[in-house]
Amino acid sequence: MSLLEVRDLHVDFHTRDGVIKAVNGVNYSVDAGETLAVLGESGSGKSVTAQAIMGILDMPPGRIPKGEILFHGKDMLAMGKEERRKIRGARIAMIFQDALSSLNP
Ligand SMILES: Nc1ncnc2c1ncn2[C@@H]1O[C@H](COP(=O)(O)OP(=O)(O)OP(=O)(O)O)[C@@H](O)[C@H]1O
Ligand SMILES: [Mg+2]
Repeated sequence: MSLLEVRDLHVDFHTRDGVIKAVNGVNYSVDAGETLAVLGESGSGKSVTAQAIMGILDMPPGRIPKGEILFHGKDMLAMGKEERRKIRGARIAMIFQDALSSLNP
């Protein structure tokens, strides 16, 4: 079992101008002690995927219509807020792209 496994993750943003499909079926897994680098052009959804894993996506406008985010085999998308809060920061952390201007926990 992987430490973290992202399965067929989809993230949409519902805006006044329509639905933006930011993440369309991302799959990756990370084992304990492993480093994974995700490369892609600007706007390809790297940060939005990380925000979905952390549980800090703004919903709305964001929505996760499909996918699973398994942490130690357990789907974090199916967990309650309190259970996720215990993982966030303590078990999974994020260093923000523009760390100096980011105050989001
Ligand atoms: N709150 C939001 N509302 C609408 N669209 C959004 C929102 N947040 C992100 N997006 C869109 O989601 C898409 C993916 O953005 P994301 O920030 O994940 O890209 P990225 O791969 O991290 O790019 P970069 O390499 O520039 O950091 C982009 O089209 C972006 O405009
Ligand atoms: Mg980014």
